Amino acid sequence: MRLTNHPILGPAAPGREVVFFLDGVAATGLEGEPLAAALKAAGVAVHRYTKKHRRPRGLFCAVGRCTDCVMVVNGRPNVRVCVTPLEEGMRVATQYGAGEGVK
Ligand code: FES
Repeated sequence: MRLTNHPILGPAAPGREVVFFLDGVAATGLEGEPLAAALKAAGVAVHRYTKKHRRPRGLFCAVGRCTDCVMVVNGRPNVRVCVTPLEEGMRVATQYGAGEGVK
């Protein structure tokens, strides 16, 4: 099952299958789909861990409002992956705290 009409990003164009990297491991998704959708299809539920209590967080609002889905994308922390289109070769990492690095 794939998201075909995102309330923020709009209708999905039929994208080709591309490779991206999650915590250094290759995965595939459809180019242009929300990165969160590709992660969900790959079975990923945890996107980040909170700073204070190290609690897991993942997709919540899915429209770019809550920041629960933020991850480190291409070295940049705090990227809301629910409203970020997937691009070939993206490097996505689980975020710990404010994204100061892998713990
Ligand atoms: S899930 Fe809420 S901002 Fe992405």
